[in-house]
Amino acid sequence: MEIRKLRVGGLLLPSNVLMAPLAGYTCYPFRMLACEMGAGLCFTEMVSANGLKYQDMATRKLLFTTKQEKIRAVQLLGGNPAVMERMACSELLRDFDIIDINMGCPVPNVFKSGEGSALMLDWKRASAIIRGCRKSGKIVTVKCRTGIRADDLFAAEFARMCEDSGADMITIHGRSRSMMYDGEPSYEEIARAKAAVSIPVIANGGIYSAEDGERMMERTGADGIMIARYALENPFIFAELTGRPSGKNARQVILEQMELTRRYYDETYTLAYIRKLASYGMKKRKGTKKYKERLYRSGSLEALREVVELIFPG
Ligand SMILES: Cc1cc2nc3c(=O)[nH]c(=O)nc-3n(C[C@H](O)[C@H](O)[C@H](O)COP(=O)(O)O)c2cc1C
Repeated sequence: MEIRKLRVGGLLLPSNVLMAPLAGYTCYPFRMLACEMGAGLCFTEMVSANGLKYQDMATRKLLFTTKQEKIRAVQLLGGNPAVMERMACSELLRDFDIIDINMGCPVPNVFKSGEGSALMLDWKRASAIIRGCRKSGKIVTVKCRTGIRADDLFAAEFARMCEDSGADMITIHGRSRSMMYDGEPSYEEIARAKAAVSIPVIANGGIYSAEDGERMMERTGADGIMIARYALENPFIFAELTGRPSGKNARQVILEQMELTRRYYDETYTLAYIRKLASYGMKKRKGTKKYKERLYRSGSLEALREVVELIFPG
């Protein structure tokens, strides 16, 4: 697989292996970790434009970042072009270099509200949202799916519309909305999209090993790949793919995540996030199942640290 720097708009990303936006996971500490491991970019989880507009504090917290994060990318979720434009141009996003627009979320409530993957059915609105977000002067990218139904894929035509509307990059999750998060991604449809546009195309979906990453690149001809769930299990995948050994072990990584999260977030968030992250990390660790209940019952950071040290002995 050709690992290289990737130009997106006026920015040069350090690698073409990207970390996906993941609700509940890609908080500031995880984004820092992914980038340290070699990811070229890592996005916030989806942030509702309506939530920002109505000054919802939990939504605003999702925008937390510091100057230590070199390239900052926020993902916005919304279906109203005027609201999306207003939030994209607002002071709330001043720290961000890149706005990614969520056009892939398949969740029924989101879809019914005309947001996420519903935008793949309303090109006029999708185009207006891209054009509106561009007025912020920031780099604008789109993340979408191959289509809505598995028997009617149209990511290539959709990518073309996104490019014509001013998008600087497009990520295609190689599954249709109807497939949700399972099943074989369509390499062919991503390849078709790659051939249809001249902006960078990033291929996402079902990458669970370095070999899967290689195959995704080869079969799609994409400019880069994006990893989601597997990076929670094995954040070292970025180091493996980019050939930059991290020099840390899993125990150091999770304890550092705990420390960083505790520093910037409250205890409730830290407990929930570290429990979930440790639980992903346990998947391939033999003999750790017996700690799962204790992990989820740990009610303080000290108790959590003790069980995390048992699961990741070093
Ligand atoms: C728990 C979870 C949360 C997700 N949150 C987001 C999100 O906030 N924004 C987004 O564009 N995609 C989100 N996704 C989709 C992923 O970014 C990715 O496209 C999908 O999981 C396929 O990649 P994978 O097969 O490597 O996991 C989420 C997926 C999961 C499983």
